[in-house]
Amino acid sequence: MASIAVRYCTRTGHSKQLAESVAAALGLEAKSIDDGLDEPVDQLYLCNGMYASTLDRDLKDFLERSGKDAGEIINVCSSASGRSTRKALLKLADAYGFTLSGREFCCKGAFHFLAKGHPDEEDLRAAANFAVLTAKRR
Ligand SMILES: Cc1cc2nc3c(=O)[nH]c(=O)nc-3n(C[C@H](O)[C@H](O)[C@H](O)COP(=O)(O)O)c2cc1C
Repeated sequence: MASIAVRYCTRTGHSKQLAESVAAALGLEAKSIDDGLDEPVDQLYLCNGMYASTLDRDLKDFLERSGKDAGEIINVCSSASGRSTRKALLKLADAYGFTLSGREFCCKGAFHFLAKGHPDEEDLRAAANFAVLTAKRR
């Protein structure tokens, strides 16, 4: 299997849940973006949420530091609306020199009275299946 890492940036825990599901499916450990990439990887599963229609500031900083160390970044995200953070990530891709995979996983994530209960068991299972299907294998 190619070298793969799983990182998450979270405010309310959903991205960590998704990262743990993805990592377990790939036999890896999910780590916070506080843990930088020790070495370049072929694929980086980046689990994140949407805040005020954009990305967390810490995630942007991580991408500036480490985005270029990933052959491709695979977006795994959640938001109350179910909208993807892809647009915000794409805005940074050129500036920070990383490649965003065309494939991504996105599900709903609870916020106040919206999307209650998400990500749920089915969302986490779907994220794991997505990871198995998209992980590069030699
Ligand atoms: C401060 C804040 C702002 C948010 N803004 C949006 C938003 O603009 N659009 C949306 O769809 N969801 C929004 N959400 C919902 C989050 O994207 C959703 O709860 C996501 O699952 C959070 O992931 P996390 O638990 O990893 O932080 C917001 C949540 C928070 C806490």
